[in-house]
Amino acid sequence: MHPELQHELDIFERRTPKSAEAHKKNLKRIPLGVASNYRAYDPYPIFVEDAQGSRFRDLDGNEYIDYNLCFGALMAGHCHPAVMRAVEKRLHTGTMFGMPHNMEWELAEEICSRFPVESVRFGSSGTEATMHAVRLARAATGRDKIIKFEGGYHGLHDSVLVSVKPHAPEFGDVHDPAQVPGGLGVPKAAVANVQIATFNDLATVELRFKQNPGQIAAIILEPIMMNVGLCMPQPGFLKSLRELCTKHGALLIFDEVKTGAKLGWGGASEYFGVTPDMICLAKSIGGGFPLAAFGTHRSVMDLISQHKVFHGGTYNTNPVSMAAGLATFREVLTRDNYAHVDKLSKKLVDGYKKIVAKSGLQGYVASAGANGALMLYPKEIRNYRDWITVDTDLWRHYWFGMVNRGVMCQPYWWDEQWTISVQHIEADIDKHLAAFDEVAPGLAKAQQERGAAVVAVH
Ligand SMILES: Cc1ncc(COP(=O)(O)O)c(C=O)c1O
Repeated sequence: MHPELQHELDIFERRTPKSAEAHKKNLKRIPLGVASNYRAYDPYPIFVEDAQGSRFRDLDGNEYIDYNLCFGALMAGHCHPAVMRAVEKRLHTGTMFGMPHNMEWELAEEICSRFPVESVRFGSSGTEATMHAVRLARAATGRDKIIKFEGGYHGLHDSVLVSVKPHAPEFGDVHDPAQVPGGLGVPKAAVANVQIATFNDLATVELRFKQNPGQIAAIILEPIMMNVGLCMPQPGFLKSLRELCTKHGALLIFDEVKTGAKLGWGGASEYFGVTPDMICLAKSIGGGFPLAAFGTHRSVMDLISQHKVFHGGTYNTNPVSMAAGLATFREVLTRDNYAHVDKLSKKLVDGYKKIVAKSGLQGYVASAGANGALMLYPKEIRNYRDWITVDTDLWRHYWFGMVNRGVMCQPYWWDEQWTISVQHIEADIDKHLAAFDEVAPGLAKAQQERGAAVVAVH
């Protein structure tokens, strides 16, 4: 371990003893001491006391500007006043009915008016949204197989928990990536139905269609791969996927769990000018409450109307989440707020670029909409195989360095990215940049000492 990383870890442990203690208690009863594996990291995760706006406090009273924002689910920021008002009102008029109510068509209208879908159903998590989308695509085409990209994450159900973070040698050749289960318990039959392709490599997609004629129900992807930092589709890639799907009678599923709310008003279809057959939404559409949706053409959704595909869920359209969702669409995800976030994003990205150049750090900044990431690579990554080469110690040095200076610059893990909320202000960006300015020279030094490659992309 580089001494500067060790130094940051020592500071972290001195600042957060109550988190260490709380984690020990959790460990007694809860695997890894956390409720989701993504929340576990060494030496222990920060435990949160409370949050408001763009900030949260840990159990020791340290305050952080929050760019983690619940793994990007809080473009609204913490406790957005409009969302809180809507939810507080609902708390006194029934929190669960398991029966229809009037907010359902209202939110369905909101979604259909900004995304290219005619009909939607709701759920509570991104996992549910992609699970039902994949099942519907299978039902609509009468085919079992899907294509997903290596490194892509679409939640936790068997149909997509394949080749999420595979390793050599199991993952095979980049031009013909192998199907690697994302952990034990994923049935072989499920894995066999997931054909793996390489992001930004159309030939691998064509290969899968060729090898499985008439058998591919859908391609599922994040239009911007956001589980490898931030990896943009190369120009024309999404359009070509659209054409391939149309040619082969498969459906194109955009997993917009992250991009849907955070890229801009109309999500990825508007941003890239490519229209998928289905979209999956979750995270930031709920403004801090569990809310998800999947939408598609009426002809596909008719399979649900005709009772041919089953969709249900006790918590679907619970009034609290729906009130939060409506307030989020109407008062948070507005064109004015997107303009505000774009302005802050530009300031942050420009500032990072300057500091990267000044410090001599070999890396670049990737960004789109409310999201961005410091990518510690000598040149722009195009897929999972490029991403996997990351220097994780150097990344941890960055993250703990920032956290120790009161800036949670993104969720822990180098496959994540920052989110800027509508409640961030210019001063938050200034503080973020001031912290990075302090951390960057040490990072550059550590990187040089490790003999990093000397090609920079700015
Ligand atoms: C792109 C994408 N799809 C699906 C999911 C799963 O969403 P959830 O955690 O709400 O089940 C995630 C979660 O991070 C995601 O990033």
